[in-house]
Amino acid sequence: MSAKYLVTGASGQLGALAIDALLARVPASEVAGLVRRPEAAAPLEAKGVDVRVASYTDPEALKAAFAGIERLLLVSSSEVGQRAAQHQNVIDAAGAAGVGFVAYTSILNAKGSPLTILPGEHVATEDALAASGLDYALLRNGWYTENYTMGAKDAVKGGGLIGTIGEGRVSSAARADYAEAAAIVLTGDLPTSGTVYELAGDDSYSLPEFAAALSELSGKTLGFTDMTPEAYKDALTGFGLPEAVAAMLADSEAGAAKGGLYSDDKTLSDLLGRPTTPWRETLKAAL
Ligand SMILES: NC(=O)c1ccc[n+]([C@@H]2O[C@H](COP(=O)([O-])OP(=O)(O)OC[C@H]3O[C@@H](n4cnc5c(N)ncnc54)[C@H](OP(=O)(O)O)[C@@H]3O)[C@@H](O)[C@H]2O)c1
Repeated sequence: MSAKYLVTGASGQLGALAIDALLARVPASEVAGLVRRPEAAAPLEAKGVDVRVASYTDPEALKAAFAGIERLLLVSSSEVGQRAAQHQNVIDAAGAAGVGFVAYTSILNAKGSPLTILPGEHVATEDALAASGLDYALLRNGWYTENYTMGAKDAVKGGGLIGTIGEGRVSSAARADYAEAAAIVLTGDLPTSGTVYELAGDDSYSLPEFAAALSELSGKTLGFTDMTPEAYKDALTGFGLPEAVAAMLADSEAGAAKGGLYSDDKTLSDLLGRPTTPWRETLKAAL
């Protein structure tokens, strides 16, 4: 049997988890993963996944990679600034290859978000899907809890957290929650084309609350220092982050201060049929 489902970004963190969630639901012979680096194929092939190789920048290779695929999960590219054109290539190739359905990982509240940097390319991709004639669904993923927990050990070493989010609340969920939801949408009865899933964690937290939880878990008293977006961006570049990444993170937190990463939508846990992974649990695991 040839592969029916394909996940792009299969070498990445969300893509790999989506592949695992698919493998829990359908036979490996029905699952394909797209990678751009041939050397990324081995761990997927070891799971019985059909690995296809193409970059989002290579329309012909993408079309060949999508041959025979019925349902495709387009995991948004990590190359911020290039993404609208890359995703357009994927959508065009999916159409040319006869793919029947595309689910795209967008951003929470893409069309009304107070974040000013990240949503633009997602909106362009959502619009490209709407114009493509393909059947599609939008998985508007909220923040990954891991965005904050991956820095937890350093925050403990450094004595605290910094940011520009004020009292803004973050309704994050674990990457694995979003990955499982994507697999559920991909393998289930197809939704009406254009269905939008606003996906967020069941619980929310402010960064002072996150610092308090980190203090409790680490046994070290840690605070949260709120800065202006400019000062936070400068602090991040001071830690060695590239200017564009620092600007994007500062903009995202400034947007979160206005509610951009908060949602009380329970679509994610409804899809999963269970509560989303509590952020404290993800934090504990990260430590
Ligand atoms: N919701 C959130 O909080 C959040 C946070 C971070 C990112 N994101 C978005 O969600 C996506 C998935 O998250 P993640 O954590 O899995 O990111 P990730 O681990 O960085 O994975 C990104 C994937 O995109 C692939 N990719 C990048 N450029 C490509 C190209 N030109 N052609 C083909 N593949 C390409 C990467 O391939 P390589 O392995 O070859 O690099 C990798 O497989 C990200 O790419 C980003 O758009 C969301």
